[in-house]
Amino acid sequence: MLKIKNLCTHFPTERGLVKAVNNVSLSLGSGEILGLVGESGCGKSMTLLSILRLVPYPGKIVAGRIIFNGSDILQKSPAEMRMLRGKEIAMIFQDPMTTLNPVFKVGEQIGESLRIHGIMGQKIFQDKYGYKKRLAEKKRVLELMEEVGIPSPDVRYQEYPHQFSGGMQQRALIAIALSCNPKLLLADEPTTALDVTIQAQILALLEQINREHGTSIILVTHDLGVAAEFCQRIAVMYAGSLVEEGPTDEVIERPYHPYTRGLLRSIPRITGEKKRIEPIPGNVPDLAGLADGCPFAPRCTLAHNACRTEMIPLQQISAHHQVRCLCVS
Ligand SMILES: Nc1ncnc2c1ncn2[C@@H]1O[C@H](COP(=O)(O)OP(=O)(O)OP(=O)(O)O)[C@@H](O)[C@H]1O
Ligand SMILES: [Mg+2]
Repeated sequence: MLKIKNLCTHFPTERGLVKAVNNVSLSLGSGEILGLVGESGCGKSMTLLSILRLVPYPGKIVAGRIIFNGSDILQKSPAEMRMLRGKEIAMIFQDPMTTLNPVFKVGEQIGESLRIHGIMGQKIFQDKYGYKKRLAEKKRVLELMEEVGIPSPDVRYQEYPHQFSGGMQQRALIAIALSCNPKLLLADEPTTALDVTIQAQILALLEQINREHGTSIILVTHDLGVAAEFCQRIAVMYAGSLVEEGPTDEVIERPYHPYTRGLLRSIPRITGEKKRIEPIPGNVPDLAGLADGCPFAPRCTLAHNACRTEMIPLQQISAHHQVRCLCVS
């Protein structure tokens, strides 16, 4: 349902060109959950924002194709994009605290998308004080609040975001994203600000949505463990590039890229024999003015000269597993 081909999103900065998304190719099947994994600043959010064409200024999509249900998102008119956002493709943004508007009731914010896309029609009635109300819309909002696990929806509908806990705010954002029954849900680190038990509940909720509505999901996370548990496929990004992508069990059991292997070695385990966590030596590079060649080469123990100078092609390991590394050839 979604095919991203050679997507490049660049930011011109005073320090040089930042290739936030550098030649990224990805695909997502209908009903699938894809985990997009990588360290902070590697371009995960910019990849999702590119899909909705919401890259912040001065960033720009400079090349590539994003084929969604057979047509190229990058060729659509602004009016077509407004129809697509929220209705066909919905996004749960990274920071729930700043995404909800503090001065509007949560229930009204959940109903906004329904109103914008005209989903519930215009069935309006007047209450005894003469206020116009949209009956069907409120009913749908209450259903959505119940579905995402917000208790006492009737009361919660009238409350403001500051009266919601972090977990409840995240649930409200999921309700907003779900309101128009999107085919694709882009979830940008939906659990980062939450404690582990709430994190597990939110992930279980996303899984339930995927199962019951068949919604395809791209789950952005910096936690490879979370991706391994919830996603059928995993894509690993490093410094703007997609370095490895494939079915979860193949990527976890037979990782090819030295960065993916490094990430796996640095996950703490509580079962099995005790082992020291091995951090990946070195630091994430500055994306401004990054040279051609593999961005991981300066930290890679297997790197040779060609890795530092050549553009590394994406190599096919198996039918659905690909990796951007010269060690494979
Ligand atoms: N307004 C901007 N101007 C210049 N560069 C930017 C701007 N916004 C983002 N970038 C660059 O784009 C790169 C990718 O950012 P992005 O937000 O996609 O990272 P991320 O993988 O989502 O990180 P995190 O896990 O912290 O959310 C960053 O390294 C940053 O340098
Ligand atoms: Mg981000």
